[in-house]
Amino acid sequence: MKIYAAKDYSDLSRKAANLISAQIIMKPDAVLGLATGSTPVGAYKQLIAWYEEGDLDFSRIRSVNLDEYKGLSGEHDQSYRYFMNHNLFNHVNIRKEDTNVPNGLAEDAEAECVRYNGVIAAMGGIDLQLLGIGGNGHIGFNEPSSVFEKGTHVVTLTEETRQSNARFFASIDEVPTHALTMGVGNIMSARKILLLASGEAKAKAVYDSCFGSVTPNVPASVLQLHSDVVVIADEAALTLVREKTDWKDGIYEV
Ligand code: PGA
Repeated sequence: MKIYAAKDYSDLSRKAANLISAQIIMKPDAVLGLATGSTPVGAYKQLIAWYEEGDLDFSRIRSVNLDEYKGLSGEHDQSYRYFMNHNLFNHVNIRKEDTNVPNGLAEDAEAECVRYNGVIAAMGGIDLQLLGIGGNGHIGFNEPSSVFEKGTHVVTLTEETRQSNARFFASIDEVPTHALTMGVGNIMSARKILLLASGEAKAKAVYDSCFGSVTPNVPASVLQLHSDVVVIADEAALTLVREKTDWKDGIYEV
């Protein structure tokens, strides 16, 4: 695991976009595992800008998103399909049919999870998986738990996650209670992983995930077992790491 310090959110976004661009340039038909939430928005904006300047071509890129709320259609403005269309896909030349997000409206959610695992397998796995991190250490919607779930599955969202996402809905009652998410096994099978963390609310999750015990109680801690993980965190998200380690500058290798 390598941790890169970013000065602030805009520095983090540029660094992340640079690494994603490198993947697209090196493998023009790469499979990108993509994430929603506020953290990757700046990186997506930068990728769109470079696409508009003619530096990036998404025409052969395929994508698979981490998760989707159960019960929301892709047209709902808080669905993750809507988020991806509006924050990235509509602005670059990726083919929509090559983009995948779990279907939140599937009548049989368990069957949809099985189908989604098949989609990932049929694409030959994920080349680069982008991740945010929850204040509780969740990745995708893999919430703190007593087990690491392997494949795509239906989860009950924790109260903390629903509260934290309520800012995007009219009221907490409208935040879905369940979601479909890739499992830790799907994520760990990605060839490269890029985790982004911004803001002090993530400081404890970043410290525990990178330096704590590997436990499903801090889902992102499993990334310590992956051989190619880059964490880009801004100084606010690194507060605890700075306090508890002797890391001053450069890249920290855990
Ligand atoms: P955020 O969410 O980017 O909106 O902070 C990240 C996450 O919960 O995974």
